[in-house]
Amino acid sequence: MIASKEKISHLSHLQCWQCHRCYPADRVISTATCEKCGNNILLNMYENLSGVTQQDIDIKTRSMWRYFSMLPVFDKKNIVSLGEGFTPILSLERLAKNIGLERLLVKDESSNPTGSFKARGMSMAVSKAKELGIARCIVPTAGNAGGALSAYCAKAGMEAVVVMPEHTPAVFKKECLLYGAKLVLVNGLISDCAKRVAQLNQDNEYFDMSTLKEPYRLEGKKTMGYEIAEQMDWKLPDIIFYPTGGGTGLIGMWKAFNEMVEMGWIPPRLPRMIAVQVENCKPIVETWLGNQENCKRYSGKATIANGLAVPHPFGEGMIIATLKESQGKPMSVSDEEITSSLREIAKEEGILMAPEGAALLTALKKSLLENSVSQNETVLLLNTGSGYKYLEGLN
Ligand SMILES: Cc1ncc(COP(=O)(O)O)c(C=O)c1O
Ligand SMILES: [Zn+2]
Repeated sequence: MIASKEKISHLSHLQCWQCHRCYPADRVISTATCEKCGNNILLNMYENLSGVTQQDIDIKTRSMWRYFSMLPVFDKKNIVSLGEGFTPILSLERLAKNIGLERLLVKDESSNPTGSFKARGMSMAVSKAKELGIARCIVPTAGNAGGALSAYCAKAGMEAVVVMPEHTPAVFKKECLLYGAKLVLVNGLISDCAKRVAQLNQDNEYFDMSTLKEPYRLEGKKTMGYEIAEQMDWKLPDIIFYPTGGGTGLIGMWKAFNEMVEMGWIPPRLPRMIAVQVENCKPIVETWLGNQENCKRYSGKATIANGLAVPHPFGEGMIIATLKESQGKPMSVSDEEITSSLREIAKEEGILMAPEGAALLTALKKSLLENSVSQNETVLLLNTGSGYKYLEGLN
């Protein structure tokens, strides 16, 4: 057994989400395909959890790496960090009053390196890639993940290839180039970028960092769940609104909550998880409503909330399972509603949210109107990024 005092990783193995087949944790798993049941997601599993306590949190580390014992990197010298995570939870008092809610909070991810929560996933995945001896990475992206991969690869001295929709605002492209990445532009959405990645990576020259096709970005996003619990004194909010594209953050937080329940850090009463999508691209909503069997043939359009233009989320099954288990649901809002919420939050609270984050306020207002959220519940919005990167698209 690993002594928890040493603050070393408790990672034990990888496990298929669907059929539970186990895989060793020290091997390169590039496209996370289960040999037994096919196209499924492999999760990092940890051992001896009863021995891990809140004392294992490395409180001197003011980044997501303070939860090292519950993260998949074995050796701290492989950590590639730019100071990601440990973001604030702010109280939105004026907005709460305006909409008739007692307690409205936001976990504000805009202060992360490269301006979004994607830093968490990429810090983790690039660190693990370094540990596994990988030197070249590739990713399809709606924008933010590409910038984050580029920055962390620059820090690690690795090569990065970023494949992005042509219509993405210029700042997302420029940052990749400044960080030294190779940028490939595609006429289409992230699903078209994913096809280009498959073509470019036919010879498996690169580590494919596509959402949930490698098992480590999820573990980085999971740290949002640990931080929420720690910052809220181990009493989770009643409801979490999360802008859902590929769904990694939603699934990651849910994994964190369940790990913490298993370790006895929090009681088993977990928040309802609300996945917020956009009218232009709402595959999860359509599957949830029974309008399609799954998202495979869904066709989406571009939106101001670039990160939500994900028509075929690879993790659809896990997203829906999370919503069901948490007694939450998916919702959708329009681009016009997002712009108006973005302005309202900026004016009332002094926070310029990414459109993806701003979408949550509209969804919350709709939930209050339909009584699926009540006035005395504690609501947490997860603002996933900074609005500054989107300014050219706002008029
Ligand atoms: C700002 C922002 N919010 C939300 C998302 C969606 O994230 P997830 O893949 O975790 O659903 C993205 C993805 O690009 C994003 O950039
Ligand atoms: Zn399997």
